[in-house]
Amino acid sequence: MGFDNSSENYLKSSDHSVGSDLEYFTSYFKDKRFAKAIDVACAAGHFANVFPADEVFSTDLSFNMLQTAKKEMGFYMPALSKAEFLPYKSDTFDLVGCRIAMHHFRNPCMFMNEVFRVLKNGGLFVLIDSVVGKVEDADLNRLELIRDTSHHRSLQVEEIIGIAEAENFLLEDVKVFLKLHKFDEWARRLKPSDEQYEATCQAFLTLPDKIKKELRLIQNGDKIESYTDKKGFFCFKKP
Ligand SMILES: C[S@@+](CC[C@H](N)C(=O)[O-])C[C@H]1O[C@@H](n2cnc3c(N)ncnc32)[C@H](O)[C@@H]1O
Repeated sequence: MGFDNSSENYLKSSDHSVGSDLEYFTSYFKDKRFAKAIDVACAAGHFANVFPADEVFSTDLSFNMLQTAKKEMGFYMPALSKAEFLPYKSDTFDLVGCRIAMHHFRNPCMFMNEVFRVLKNGGLFVLIDSVVGKVEDADLNRLELIRDTSHHRSLQVEEIIGIAEAENFLLEDVKVFLKLHKFDEWARRLKPSDEQYEATCQAFLTLPDKIKKELRLIQNGDKIESYTDKKGFFCFKKP
């Protein structure tokens, strides 16, 4: 699986190790302390690493990601599991976090249902994920799938809120950030073949101007320097 072969790239990734979304999360909870928290689809552990919690659990579908998180971040209790089937009792956690991962999940409804189950009443679910506007929805989701065959779908903000509310979550806060991606680092993170990398480049270069503008594509001739997408921060409460 692509993630298993590239855990070290996620550890050093500038898209994951820093970002306005992480800074916002940290300042949002600067006066708060949780007893028990879990990061779902933790990868190398950059999100869980800033959790203001006494006990931090973590899960991911990739064994090597969990090994990296354990070795590099000192996580003591990582669990290999799908986000849609969390191996924990109901009403266990005060905080569930999931960052830049839900767009891989085949069934976001099932995932949110599972998050609702493992949260205690009054517990918080912080979801950070790529989001799309109506303009770039189809094109950006198509490009993401060329670069990463495990991409499922980045949703629109209203879709995410709709799924969460259908699972009985209450929306506490929502904010959208722009995120610039250095193109080569992003396109090569999952160690693509030369053909796959070239296909990703071509897919960007042949976008209609309107979409290039929406994605703030910076190119130097045929060399793509960067593009910018949107990340949504959502804080939901289990009543
Ligand atoms: C972009 S990385 C997550 C980044 C990480 N949360 C962070 O903030 O640094 C996406 C992760 O989702 C995991 N993943 C993909 N599908 C999954 C699923 N259905 N259940 C659990 N983890 C999954 C992958 O193994 C990968 O480690």
